[in-house]
Amino acid sequence: ATKTAPPIKRKERNFVKVMQDQGRRVIFFYGSQTGTAEDYAARMAKECSQNYGISAMTADIEDYDLTYLDTLPEDCLAFFVLATYGEGEPTDNAVEFWDHLTGDDVVFSEGDEDEKPLKNLRYVVFGLGNKTYEHYNAVARQVDQKLTALGATRIGERGEGDDDGSLEEDFLAWQENMWPAFCEALGVDESNVDKERTAVFSVEELETVDEESVYHGELGDKNQRHFDAKKPYPAKVTMHDLFSNSDRHCLHVDIDISESGFKYLTGDHVAIWPTNSEVEVQRLAGVLGMADKLDTIVMVKALDDTASKKYPFPVPSSYRSIFRHYLDINVAPTRPLLAGLAQFAPSEQGKAFLERLSKDKEEYKHVVADACRNLAEVLQLADGQTGAFSSIPFDYIVEGISRLQPRYYSISSSAMESPSVISATAVTLSYNPTTTPDRTVWGVGTNYLWALHQATYKDSDKGVYHPEYHVKGPRDAYFTDDVPRVPIHVRKSNFKLPRNPSVPVIMVGPGTGVAPFRGFVHERAFQKGHGKPVGTTLLFYGCRRSDEDFLYRDEWPGLFETLGGESRIITAFSREGAEKVYVQHRLRENAQQVWDLIDKQGAYIYVCGDAKHMAKDVQSSFIEFAQTYGGKDADQAEQYVKSLRSKGRYQEDVWS
Ligand code: 2AM
Repeated sequence: ATKTAPPIKRKERNFVKVMQDQGRRVIFFYGSQTGTAEDYAARMAKECSQNYGISAMTADIEDYDLTYLDTLPEDCLAFFVLATYGEGEPTDNAVEFWDHLTGDDVVFSEGDEDEKPLKNLRYVVFGLGNKTYEHYNAVARQVDQKLTALGATRIGERGEGDDDGSLEEDFLAWQENMWPAFCEALGVDESNVDKERTAVFSVEELETVDEESVYHGELGDKNQRHFDAKKPYPAKVTMHDLFSNSDRHCLHVDIDISESGFKYLTGDHVAIWPTNSEVEVQRLAGVLGMADKLDTIVMVKALDDTASKKYPFPVPSSYRSIFRHYLDINVAPTRPLLAGLAQFAPSEQGKAFLERLSKDKEEYKHVVADACRNLAEVLQLADGQTGAFSSIPFDYIVEGISRLQPRYYSISSSAMESPSVISATAVTLSYNPTTTPDRTVWGVGTNYLWALHQATYKDSDKGVYHPEYHVKGPRDAYFTDDVPRVPIHVRKSNFKLPRNPSVPVIMVGPGTGVAPFRGFVHERAFQKGHGKPVGTTLLFYGCRRSDEDFLYRDEWPGLFETLGGESRIITAFSREGAEKVYVQHRLRENAQQVWDLIDKQGAYIYVCGDAKHMAKDVQSSFIEFAQTYGGKDADQAEQYVKSLRSKGRYQEDVWS
């Protein structure tokens, strides 16, 4: 986990004391990586006070000492909103809690004599996971089990959201039964509560402002010297095309971290904080009737001054910067948000349209979720006139749209060879939703990089230039000497080469899945060049065509020549012949050697790229080899691969 520097004034770590001081009965702990669990916690905390009249607070689980769980009074309630990530791991901010709870001797503040130390605790749990991965919602499930085993009582059913389906719909469906159970547990009589909306944020347009204090896309404090995941470093970035054709571009990105204080290890991830496209900024500003006042400076803060986060993003800032840099304006608006905004529609039809979307799940799925329509696009469908929704108070927007989050890329350089320049490899994402085949939806992070590249380096004749992604202007303050600066931070990963370089490695990485393996191969060639004994290094790489999207094609021959012996790259070009050829076909062709490397020489296996199909197919190939060449039956073969995983000899860096 990336740790922040100790705060100057030490915060109270006993959450029970904080709750008592602030008169809270409910606390929502969140274990969040990309902010979704945090959003869910905030949404429920708000509902808790607005709909049920119970004062609640949200809490980043790493900010508090959870050994006080045994002292939470019986008339209170603790929510755990926990994401599972990677191979069944907790999020960075939940590691400490997780280690404590799953450790051998869990001790709470009142001592360890009692076998059921949490007998007074009542809790609710909701997990965020993804069924594509093997350890679906492992964190929420185990926390639930463990709390119960320690004597605590769960209120309602455990909720589980699946990001491969619809996390949001799972979350909404689970709440239907959770709130009645919640009311019963806390003795709330719903009919007595006035359910008027209460604002969470205040928005004040500033007439006079000290220019120096205004944020234009910076993250963290203005003049900070210390950088981490919450305060990214504005790094100098240079890029070049790896390939570029009419609809796809692949960029090699070099990020200079020499003055950041960041260190990285080969196989880590780099987080890049993107900027929203100008087209989408203008679209949203247009429909909200704000196009003329984008440069107005505003102060936005939490109305509750005991809130754990006083400001939703760095302020004061302009509406323009808020749309460009701080709000995730490209995500689909949630059904509850649309329900809340319907009242501001300028016509009865517009209002009815938004209400229908908010109530009818199928309609919503078709028009919004599957079509990947963002808020502005949905509002335009409700009423296409400029300024149609100008009566929406800005605090609704701030509350209803989550924060723009960084995008993570596997680092494609070797830390040993290139300690102060991190490389990333990014292919631009765009797709046409099946429900609206004529519309193209652009991935925010990769197209931002592409636009930055186009805007900065004038060799745009090589590809199709999308002027709508032109980013001139944003983060002007970050540009120095014509070199763009982009906020970044480093995230540690467990995806690591064996400590001993003489151990053989088998890498499988089609497409941009080759990124970390470029780092691995560079590292091993570097070690070899420095006289170290380096084991056999096999890279299985796949792409469409050898002359189209073959990444780093000019680098591999030299690297593998340095490595020598049996080390080589084995390519699968899927669109060159009559039949598809994939990496797993090439694995099969080399099965005997692959099996011997694994079983006799203790090779490590690495798989990077698509989680849903590729990584599963590749794993099946290895299981098959254990049967065919290792003489194991189906169960034993599966166990064999499982045990490779648990020994760290089968590692994945996969995404869906
Ligand atoms: P395709 O797009 O021609 O089907 C990088 O994306 C490469 O991975 C492409 O050559 C792509 O082939 C291939 N690919 C697609 N699905 C795959 C799968 N299930 N397993 C392995 N490779 C796959």
